[in-house]
Amino acid sequence: MKKPSISSIQSQLILYFAIAILVPVGITMIVGVTLIHDEIITRAQTKAIADINSAKEIYRSKLSHIESITRLTAVRSLIVGALARRDAPFLRTDLGTTLRRENLDVLTIVDRNGIVVARGRNPHLFGDTLTSDPLVAHVIEHRHIITGTDIVPREHLLREGPELAEQASMEIIPTPKAKPPLGDRETSGMMLRSAVPVFDAANTLQGVLVGGVLLNRNYELVDKINEVVHEREIYKGREIGTATIFQGDLRISTNVKNDDGSRAISTLVSEEVHTAVLKDGNRWLGDAFVVNAWYITAYVPIRNIEDKIIGILYVGVLRQPFDDVQRNTLAIFLGITLGGILLIVLIAVHQARRISRPLKTLEGVARQIADGDYAREVTIDAPDEIQHLAGSINQMARKLEKEKNELEEFAGTLERKVEERTDQIKKIHSQLYRSEKLASIGKLAAGVAHEINNPLTGILTNASLLVEDISADDPRRDDVEIIVKETIRCREIVKRLLDFARQTKPQKRLTSINTLSDNIILLVRNQTAFRNIEIVRNLAPDLPEVLADTDQIQQVLINMILNAAEAMTKGGRLDIASSLSGAGESIAVRFADTGPGISEENRERIFDPFFTTKEHGTGLGLSISYGIIEQHGGTISVESTPGRGSVFTVLLPVDAGENGGHS
Ligand SMILES: Nc1ncnc2c1ncn2[C@@H]1O[C@H](COP(=O)(O)OP(=O)(O)O)[C@@H](O)[C@H]1O
Ligand SMILES: [Mg+2]
Repeated sequence: MKKPSISSIQSQLILYFAIAILVPVGITMIVGVTLIHDEIITRAQTKAIADINSAKEIYRSKLSHIESITRLTAVRSLIVGALARRDAPFLRTDLGTTLRRENLDVLTIVDRNGIVVARGRNPHLFGDTLTSDPLVAHVIEHRHIITGTDIVPREHLLREGPELAEQASMEIIPTPKAKPPLGDRETSGMMLRSAVPVFDAANTLQGVLVGGVLLNRNYELVDKINEVVHEREIYKGREIGTATIFQGDLRISTNVKNDDGSRAISTLVSEEVHTAVLKDGNRWLGDAFVVNAWYITAYVPIRNIEDKIIGILYVGVLRQPFDDVQRNTLAIFLGITLGGILLIVLIAVHQARRISRPLKTLEGVARQIADGDYAREVTIDAPDEIQHLAGSINQMARKLEKEKNELEEFAGTLERKVEERTDQIKKIHSQLYRSEKLASIGKLAAGVAHEINNPLTGILTNASLLVEDISADDPRRDDVEIIVKETIRCREIVKRLLDFARQTKPQKRLTSINTLSDNIILLVRNQTAFRNIEIVRNLAPDLPEVLADTDQIQQVLINMILNAAEAMTKGGRLDIASSLSGAGESIAVRFADTGPGISEENRERIFDPFFTTKEHGTGLGLSISYGIIEQHGGTISVESTPGRGSVFTVLLPVDAGENGGHS
């Protein structure tokens, strides 16, 4: 028998469940992660744009701050007066004070021809011309304020103060991915500058006041941007926000730190940004690896007063927090998915067990039924369909059991019927055999009897006559009388033989077997042969009368009783019983004696004519009785236990009708 692969139900359930959850979850995850990624990137870029705009604003406000200081200084009457008087010592002192107070790098005043009158920073140098300075030239020509970012060459810086030239000068550090620099050192500086016209009371241009702040290695602006935009937020030990000012493509001021904590200046911008921002003048947004971490960055060009691009303003947001959000989201997604799968596997295993366990039980029950054990009733806790299956199996078992019982019963009946039939056939066979034997012997006997009858009549007549002739005292008279007596006996035998052979058809009339039996019992009871015999009468009352030849039946009953008495010569007991037999279709008369019984071999022959075990027996009693009962459609049977007694049973059909007998 093939074992059903129950385990496969389980694995299939798990597989299908897993597919059912994995596919949508997978799609959701991919879509979700993509969406989240896009969202985060968009947010980061939006933030970068906002940040760069803030940075630009801060940069611009720094410029206007310088412009305000310069302008406020230029309108002071003391300054205007001193310039008119060419009072250089006063101007030097005063400008120096303002420069230091306002944290300016340059505060220089020139006359209307561009000749330096006084420097706030480098007081000893004056009298040189600044007409080459585009801002000064612009103010002299247009008589109004001009403010902007400017690249200041080294000679100019040296004049304004050698320490400024020193501050600006930096060695360019070769940077991978950057455009190769033209030289290995940058000596000029980038300044926020404002040039303000100085007018006298008559509104005549007296000179120009120039203020400026050098951006190289000046971290005030980038730190302020970081402070305002990112509130100096630290993420995992790193500042989230970065800001850088490029002079051309060179980092001159930044809050990006090297690994040693120093400011990461003197390196170059990447070639990609260089092209997009410096060359094409566009804003550049994107991811950039700055020094040692990834940033979401924005670069915008810085232009001078002639609108030429001279540098870049940069802000960057550390990408790590965004990446972390993304990674955490992904981790949560994965966690939920794995949890879901685990849950589903558990559910699938549980469900599969719920199905497979009752199936296994059913399998066992089915096997038991196959082995012929129908008694077991299955009761299981299972889903409806399997419950129904169990119900059907129970029903099937009950049906099978019923049919099996019916079959067995039928087989039993069949056996009994076959036995009955066989018995009947055997009986009929022996009856036939006996009838034929009787018939042939009867014919022979009739022939012989007929032949003997006439001579016997002659002998009897003559012997009787002889008796009459012999006187009473003659001793021969006794001998002749014996002849007469024995001849009479011979005739009796011959008569019986003829009776037997003649097989006369019975003259039937309604006869009461009980009355017949009672009469015979009364008749024999007082005879000497029955002296030591106890006759027990046990006749059933209300027996129906039977259609029978009364004389013949009486002869049969007498034969039975006489045989019993002859068997019990030393006394005994004879039970005579009548009863309704079968379903009332016949009357049974039973003669049970306590005689010696009949041996097995004799039992076969006692119904044969002339079979006798008695010295003076004829051996005709039973055979004649047999013939009579047979002609009445009945039977005579015998049971005997040698040493214990014999039982003869005569069965007579109540409705003997005309169907009985062979004639
Ligand atoms: N009740 C009986 N008990 C024992 N043997 C019996 C009985 N009835 C008949 N027999 C046997 O059957 C034989 C045949 O009986 P039957 O035909 O009446 O002839 P008979 O009585 O002349 O011998 C008897 O000789 C006897 O051996
Ligand atoms: Mg007899």
